[in-house]
Amino acid sequence: MDIFRVRGNGPLKGTIAISGAKNAALPIFAATLLTEEPCIIDNVPNLSDVRSMLDILGRLGASVTQESPHRWRIEAKKIGHTAPYELVRKMRASVCLLGPLVARCRRAEVSIPGGCVIGPRPIDLHIKGLRKLGCAVEIENGYVNVDASKLSGGPIFLGGRHGSTVTGTANILMAAVLAPGETRLEGAACEPEIVDLCIMLKKMGAQIEGVGSPELIIQGVAKLSGCEHSVVPDRIEAGTFLAAAAITRGDVTITGIPPRLLGAFLDKCEEAGLPFELTENSIRVLPYEGNLNPIDIITLPYPGFPTDLQAQMSALMVVTPGLSILTERIYPNRFMHVPELQRMGADMAIEGSSAIIKGGARLSGAPVMASDLRASAALVIAALAAEGTTWIQRIYHLDRGYEDFEARLRALGADIERLSDKDLPKEYWESAEA
Ligand code: EPZ
Repeated sequence: MDIFRVRGNGPLKGTIAISGAKNAALPIFAATLLTEEPCIIDNVPNLSDVRSMLDILGRLGASVTQESPHRWRIEAKKIGHTAPYELVRKMRASVCLLGPLVARCRRAEVSIPGGCVIGPRPIDLHIKGLRKLGCAVEIENGYVNVDASKLSGGPIFLGGRHGSTVTGTANILMAAVLAPGETRLEGAACEPEIVDLCIMLKKMGAQIEGVGSPELIIQGVAKLSGCEHSVVPDRIEAGTFLAAAAITRGDVTITGIPPRLLGAFLDKCEEAGLPFELTENSIRVLPYEGNLNPIDIITLPYPGFPTDLQAQMSALMVVTPGLSILTERIYPNRFMHVPELQRMGADMAIEGSSAIIKGGARLSGAPVMASDLRASAALVIAALAAEGTTWIQRIYHLDRGYEDFEARLRALGADIERLSDKDLPKEYWESAEA
């Protein structure tokens, strides 16, 4: 397995272009199943999760052609309605195939995705929404079996105990666009990735009002046509690189991202005193003297502070003197990065669903273990500011959501190498952990 070797190497400098958003590309590819006509999807990030989704589309019967590194042609002339466990378990977001299969085939059998280290990943709201659309839904042998022969629009409230559901909204939206009648979807997620999906569906002929609001009004249509769509830039990737620039006191321009997609995150960076300049489609992080200010954050559905940037901001606050508190309202246990940051010298503790950080630590390199996508990014960010060498194992987690991560950071001056775990100093081998 691959590992990263990272050495603190001073301020990052230069320009970095942002890729298309993973969390938009995945439901958008699922939506190509809604029509038998070809769809061209552009600005697609080259990620293992995206390759998994394309693999599943192919296994369902769609023809999948790569036209250029970030451009794909999908034609789902005839498709099956079963997404098997051996594929779904690889990538839990494949649960967002439920909606298109229900809409197109009027039936679906999708394996229930497992949980993951950030916490249980229930789909009760997805099932509630499908039942409100007249579907008969049974859970059997680890599969969600849906009979949608009576699919029809209706009023749905989709909010849950942690607020809205992103892939739940995507699923119900994709089922409703071909459901006869009107669907009023209240408590819908407003994430930019859902807005991007709505834009693509409207290009295909879907009738959707209220895009970007928590109330979507959908008039079902009989058929949808193919389309050409470019995926929205990845605000989480942009926030990740922004935190990496900030922790190294660098001068980095992040291009291809409208700052408005990072509202709450930039608001907290401003509160921390991080200097940056904005244009319509870029963010330039500027060097600073002295220290940033500690902050407190609560993660919330969009437009609140994104849970997917909590770990990365924690890494930045670990070196910022003062008391910072980061509270998770979306995934209360999303703190797998904490014990690894502690190994590097972070003074932080978990209290319930909050990370309490006594900032100002001088981080030192150490062998650490990646555990999930965003926690892995937080470890790289911390390693960029640490003295000495940090060895990060299990970086396949990171490859799920960041394209060419190490090469793009190296282009900014980071000392980061992708090596084999054979290059790990013997004393750090995982077996030594046993
Ligand atoms: C999406 O996951 C993202 N993944 C996640 O990004 C992101 O963290 C999450 O939204 C929250 O923003 C993709 O879009 C592929 P949810 P999703 O349904 O849709 C609870 C990353 O790092 N809930 O919005 O699975 C749930 O437990 C990934 O890129 C229910 O209770 O998340 C959570 O507490 C990680 N019942 C909250 O809602 C349900 O039926 C939000 O979950 C569904 C969700």
